[in-house]
Amino acid sequence: MADLSEFQHPRCARMYERISAESEQRGTAQHRDRAFAGLSGRVIEVGAGNGMNFGHYPNTVAEVVAVEPEDHLRTLAERAAETAAVPVHVVARHATALPVEDATFDGTVASLVLCSVADVPAALAELRRVLKPNGQLRFFEHVRSTKPWFALLEDALTPLWSRVGGGCHLNLAAGLIQHHNRARADGDRFVEQQGDRLG
Ligand SMILES: C[S@@+](CC[C@H](N)C(=O)[O-])C[C@H]1O[C@@H](n2cnc3c(N)ncnc32)[C@H](O)[C@@H]1O
Repeated sequence: MADLSEFQHPRCARMYERISAESEQRGTAQHRDRAFAGLSGRVIEVGAGNGMNFGHYPNTVAEVVAVEPEDHLRTLAERAAETAAVPVHVVARHATALPVEDATFDGTVASLVLCSVADVPAALAELRRVLKPNGQLRFFEHVRSTKPWFALLEDALTPLWSRVGGGCHLNLAAGLIQHHNRARADGDRFVEQQGDRLG
């Protein structure tokens, strides 16, 4: 069993449980639908949280392996998996050590998670490892603002925010994902990408 103690943030987890439901009504549901449209086959999702994505997978998805290291959120994800329209298997691991073979997934998914990952290039490399040659990475993430003054504010707030927010960085560099995905990053607060192959 992997040591997941560094990922336990019970207070943040309870806060996310509440705000994720609210944010779903304020547009996040549409982001999820757009990000996952057209996915099919086997999918692995990292940092599944409380399972907010599960209801947004199209029925062309045959199986989702949902990786979540935080205990409270994983319990909620297991509950959400029971009523999901597609088969979801929730596992207790983290993004840089996925318990699966190379090139075995048609899709990899990261949503609102890379901001909290300590080593983003390692996580993206791991997602690439498990993706089949024609597979797709689907993600949506909040990233560092393109407005210079706002970006500087995000930089300034991140050390404190990260401490109280379960490791979340307000200033995730879109270029990191772009570089690893060879994808277009449009510089919006939300980068959405569909259909781009890793690698
Ligand atoms: C803001 S929540 C997003 C949850 C979900 N992806 C969603 O879209 O609602 C961030 C999640 O990433 C998880 N997380 C943080 N660091 C991680 C890592 N290194 N590997 C996998 N998951 C991680 C947290 O435990 C949490 O569940």
